[in-house]
Amino acid sequence: MRLRAAKPGWSAKADVVVIGSGVAGLTTALQIRAHNLSVLLVTKARVDSGSTKWAQGGIAAALGPGDTPDQHEKDTLVAGAGLCDVNAVKVLVSEGPEAVRKLIARGAVFDLSETGEIALTREGGHLRNRILHAGGDATGAEVSRALLAAVKNDNGIEVLENALVIDALKNENGDVCGVTLHVIGAGTRDGVGQALARAVVIATGGLGQVFSQTTNPSVSTGDGVALALRAGADVADVEFIQFHPTVLWIGDSSRGQQPLISEAVRGEGAILKNLKGEAFMKYVHPLADLAPRDIVAKEISRQMLSSGSKHVWLDATKIPDFPERFPTIYQSCLNHGINPTIELIPVAPASHYASGGVRVDLFGRSAIPGLYVCGESACTGAHGANRLASNSLLEGLVFGARIAENIAASIPEFSAPKQSNSVEILLDPVIRTALQQAMSRGAGVVRSKESLDETLMTLQKLALFTTNEANIDSWETTNLYYLATAIVRSALERSESRGSHWRADFPNVSQAWEKRIHQRIDSNGTWSSEIAELGVTDVFSTTK
Ligand code: SIN
Repeated sequence: MRLRAAKPGWSAKADVVVIGSGVAGLTTALQIRAHNLSVLLVTKARVDSGSTKWAQGGIAAALGPGDTPDQHEKDTLVAGAGLCDVNAVKVLVSEGPEAVRKLIARGAVFDLSETGEIALTREGGHLRNRILHAGGDATGAEVSRALLAAVKNDNGIEVLENALVIDALKNENGDVCGVTLHVIGAGTRDGVGQALARAVVIATGGLGQVFSQTTNPSVSTGDGVALALRAGADVADVEFIQFHPTVLWIGDSSRGQQPLISEAVRGEGAILKNLKGEAFMKYVHPLADLAPRDIVAKEISRQMLSSGSKHVWLDATKIPDFPERFPTIYQSCLNHGINPTIELIPVAPASHYASGGVRVDLFGRSAIPGLYVCGESACTGAHGANRLASNSLLEGLVFGARIAENIAASIPEFSAPKQSNSVEILLDPVIRTALQQAMSRGAGVVRSKESLDETLMTLQKLALFTTNEANIDSWETTNLYYLATAIVRSALERSESRGSHWRADFPNVSQAWEKRIHQRIDSNGTWSSEIAELGVTDVFSTTK
């Protein structure tokens, strides 16, 4: 399968093409340069437009006194609700501290405590203070700034902005040897072109725009994951969409990216209250307001369902230095007419993070040779059914470095793309809003067979709206359609509730479902799924 697009009118070449300029893409690119390979870094809008910049809370790493990678591993496994790949978690937590030190060496500046040590805070699911933060609640912006500065200083990395990746190019063996992409540019690189490479790394981030309300920016349409699906790779764990519990509620009709109220606010003592003003999390979990994210999001949804309200309250009035500790959140609340130092903040869950993605091994390799995937686009298995707060920037740092090492050790020569005669698809962007609404209605925090069946039927009807007008809107919409279909199919199949997947008709966790659902599409566009045992090596059991 491939997206309908014009034939490439221009060509570029680099040893490695990295798609995406968040923490995962930038880290991978910089580490690849340590091996003297050339990099073409492709990004859909401006280099700093992705999700990384929006990350508030921080980076989790066992750096504090009394903390250990073992303890971080335990917390990650508990949050992951039985579906983590233990080996992937071990890699994440044991290589995490060194990856953070490297980030600091690259120029990232984190907030310090009064004694001059790195200040560590807590978020949901962590039994220790282990979250590094920068600028109070602007951690992602600082990480992005530092990595971009390093990238700009490196002549071996060419950055191509306003470039939407379309599809993978394969050689006669079926290995990935480049991508097609569309650039809104000037001069020779304008319109559809091809970038040839000895290895391709997808780091396009999340897919939050599949839903009506999300914390993700508008660029988060999951383009890389959809590309990998069409190229024949498996996706896994895609039913586990994490809904962030505390997103500023700014009205029912609000669409697209919504303002996040970081878990770190609860880490500093803020309390969730229902509309009667009662604190409710203490009755639900021993960690109360700092329970793992899925548990908090579910309880908020229960409170909203039982009271018929559209939000609950977050009481942060007891945090004495709120404006200094959370300057971004403070300003964003003020912009919406709420002063969090004296007023309660209305919050509701919204789609935040895809715990699943393209199934990869511990070196970021997908089942298609030549195609690597890193960060939120990937499913390493480190997150299981629910990612632990602030493990995502860490994953980009750790696995970006591992991918670079693997590429350097095994990179093939350039090869020519084979003429593709695969089936073309392109959907009319007119369906985008209906798709997002159907997903929020039927495949949101609470799902059931009935709601998912209805959503799948809506998606099938929307897929009849095809178009010949290839442009950014139609490519993105088609990508959203693939991802929505994958999410709904997996959510239907998983007849239990676990982590961030909550089925009203199967409210309990089932041991029989300690398994991973893989999905793929064949060259005719037919979907199939496979129930896989846990374990990272299974990525290669489903070869192209
Ligand atoms: C937050 O600051 O609450 C978000 C952190 C994360 O998603 O890990």
